[in-house]
Amino acid sequence: MTMAGPAMPRTAQDHYTAGAAGGGLMAAARPLSSAIAPPGGLRPPVRPPVPVSATLAANEALDRKRAEGGAVLPLAFGEAGLPPHPALRAALAAASGGNAYGPVAGLPSLLDAAAGYWARRGLATGAGQVVAGPGSKALLFGLLMALAEDVALARPSWVSYAAQAALMGVHTHAIPTVRGEGGVPDPDALDRAVREARRAGRVIGSVIVTLPDNPTGGLASVDTVRGLAEVAAHHDLMIISDEIYRDLVHDPAQPFPSPAAWAPDRTVITTGLSKNLALGGWRLGVARFPDGPAGTDLRERLLGIGSEIWSAAAAPVQQAAALAFTEPPEITERVARSRSLHARVVRAVADRLARAGVAVPPPRAAFYLYPDFAAWRATLALRHEVTTGAGLSSLLLERYGMGVLPASAFGDSQGSLAVRVATGLLYGDSLTTREAALAAPDPTRLPWIAASLDRLSEILADLAP
Ligand SMILES: Cc1ncc(COP(=O)(O)O)c(C=O)c1O
Repeated sequence: MTMAGPAMPRTAQDHYTAGAAGGGLMAAARPLSSAIAPPGGLRPPVRPPVPVSATLAANEALDRKRAEGGAVLPLAFGEAGLPPHPALRAALAAASGGNAYGPVAGLPSLLDAAAGYWARRGLATGAGQVVAGPGSKALLFGLLMALAEDVALARPSWVSYAAQAALMGVHTHAIPTVRGEGGVPDPDALDRAVREARRAGRVIGSVIVTLPDNPTGGLASVDTVRGLAEVAAHHDLMIISDEIYRDLVHDPAQPFPSPAAWAPDRTVITTGLSKNLALGGWRLGVARFPDGPAGTDLRERLLGIGSEIWSAAAAPVQQAAALAFTEPPEITERVARSRSLHARVVRAVADRLARAGVAVPPPRAAFYLYPDFAAWRATLALRHEVTTGAGLSSLLLERYGMGVLPASAFGDSQGSLAVRVATGLLYGDSLTTREAALAAPDPTRLPWIAASLDRLSEILADLAP
């Protein structure tokens, strides 16, 4: 269950085998540098390289294929693939004169707007409970650094949690999810893991949950999240709830289970604009801290860390983000359109996979799928010598130009033949095609999206037993 391993990661997915004590960048630097010191005793001048995040690396591999003139099916990168809303572009342009650093926590207008965003979702929030940063990824990194003790993660879970922990030498514990659900450790398994860890002299101090989930595209049930909150309270764990896909649950009527509802005093929520408004490149995230001493203390720690790493998020972006978090009607409408586009296209892709005989859990949010090619294992081994998820991903890339990420990048075993499919880059390469995808009543009939779906079916037919 523990992601133990002695060596520095050499590839992005190796992060999942390098999170143990002594496996992080800082902890590993000394033994490793002496192990690879050249004869003559000179120490290498730099730390061992940190691999590029699996998802960014896969994107770069696809770009190389494209540059060589090959056709590609870009299903690896978790980008929302839509244009920025004109009102947000105008707000950003209007704020471009704002060149002062500003407060570490963020501009008051943004903190107020983010507090309002959460209040409209049933979580009363004061601006003093919010911190903004350059992307929720940076905030998550800062939180892991501030919390320091061991952290529990769902298996599978988003690529960067374990990778960030490994950078800091923070020990991770991968906990299976409830069958058919993703993003949240099974509460009973978490309870056992905390007890086992204590017996082994380790303290799990926090747990990260992803609601809704990347990589599975699932949303954990109310019962599971309530159970997790109870286990967290019992063992005094802080919960980091990564809710960056919250506004992209396909059925907006579905109740959204944030652990903050059951564990308000121990849940930190992170979110951002990268997914619901496709503003990943603007780099803006926000964190909501619990009201109370534990929340205040953790917020102060994060501010200290932020002050030494990023100082503050970009001021003009914060101004535009303040508008986004205020949620005027045109922004709510844009998010609703994006949600329905993502839902239609990701379901169409799931349908093609299912029709080809690949097991695929139904997507409930965002633009992700986690299909499992296990039923094709014998054929993949016999015809292509493929026995691992990494092997399957390389075969799909090299033979068909289809980019996906292996399950091992998310903490599942090397032998798992599940892959993470992200559909947000199927909407086209230009602003015009992406606008058309947003406006189309049935985007799957647009020629470029239909062609990608057909290409997927061709590839699957070619690979099938
Ligand atoms: C689950 C999850 N959390 C956080 C992030 C990072 O988002 P940001 O752009 O806010 O750093 C991503 C991006 O892929 C993600 O999938």
